[in-house]
Amino acid sequence: MVLLNSEVGNFIISNGRRYSYFAGNNYLGLAVDARIKAAVIKAVEKYGVNFSASRHTTGTADIHLELENALASFKGKEDAVVFASGFQGNSILLEVLKGSYSTVCIDQSAHASILAAIPSNVAGVIFYDHCDADHLDELLENSGSSDALVITDGIFPLTGEIAPLDRIYPVVRKHHGILVVDDAHATGILGDTGKGTTELFGLCGEERIYQTETMSKALGGYGGFISGSRTLTALIRERSATYQASTALPPPIVAAGIASLRILGDNPDLRHQLLEKSWLLRQAIAEMGYRTTACRTPIIPVIFDAPEKARDLSHFLEENGVIVPYMNYPVRKEMHQVRIAVSVSHTEEQVSQLLELLKKWKTKNENSQNQESIY
Ligand SMILES: Cc1ncc(COP(=O)(O)O)c(C=O)c1O
Repeated sequence: MVLLNSEVGNFIISNGRRYSYFAGNNYLGLAVDARIKAAVIKAVEKYGVNFSASRHTTGTADIHLELENALASFKGKEDAVVFASGFQGNSILLEVLKGSYSTVCIDQSAHASILAAIPSNVAGVIFYDHCDADHLDELLENSGSSDALVITDGIFPLTGEIAPLDRIYPVVRKHHGILVVDDAHATGILGDTGKGTTELFGLCGEERIYQTETMSKALGGYGGFISGSRTLTALIRERSATYQASTALPPPIVAAGIASLRILGDNPDLRHQLLEKSWLLRQAIAEMGYRTTACRTPIIPVIFDAPEKARDLSHFLEENGVIVPYMNYPVRKEMHQVRIAVSVSHTEEQVSQLLELLKKWKTKNENSQNQESIY
């Protein structure tokens, strides 16, 4: 475990040592942005640390409404509702949509929060092959379902792959279902204005698509949100026990969300720079002969057949001053990989150092493999 003794910028301090940091999800560097810190401090001075009540009772503040308006306008929707975490978003949505679906179809590599959101009394749960719209079609055909809820990550957090919504959504429509996209890692990153995978695939106006999102990754803050029609947000406010019975998002977090949306709106170039930087790094890693994925996202896995190599690479990088974690969670399918997370704030020197170390490790391993085969 990496023990943090500092903020998570492009460098961190852990156990007194400074490391170059290619981990976490601070894609746009906003988790440590001075403007956001200033807004947070101001909010704490005005409102304190906690509103100490649920939104439903006495915990709704003017800044909650300001944040929800800002999110709605960022997403081009009528309204938005915020709650304690992105993890909760899938449960909240599946809870309030209860009655409008009887089967849930899930990508087999879906995030743990999606698995946790499946209601216990749903009639059928089907797993389709990862990102495979044809398999989804076949399963829906065989099940005879005409009211399925299909749910997938937008960007898969371990592999950085983008769910092919351009192929999945027509299948969902063909079977009269609804599509839920957990866009935790795509919000603020993908699409012309950062609305996520739905914007990337030109599906923003589609009625049968819902997104669950978080402010904890590219937005640098914390807290989940769902945007949509006023009917949808009213349903959440009126029906979700999670929303109604948990303490309201605290003032510093609300202020961080408002400030980060402002920065995001004023700096559309940030996500373009991030995607370009990530793409160049991904290509360089692939050219070295490492196995990775081919997509324009800031998550670059280095994939192995067994855990030992992945652990060894992560360990080697750490010994040499770079944090790139070995990951074996949070999906059902076992993966053996290290996960490189790119931030727009990474310097060229950091990227060069990482590439140099990856080259060294590969050479070292190829040499030791050759020796193993000689003796
Ligand atoms: C796909 C996905 N959904 C939901 C979450 C949960 O978001 P949060 O950490 O904001 O609760 C994560 C975070 O790891 C995630 O990767």
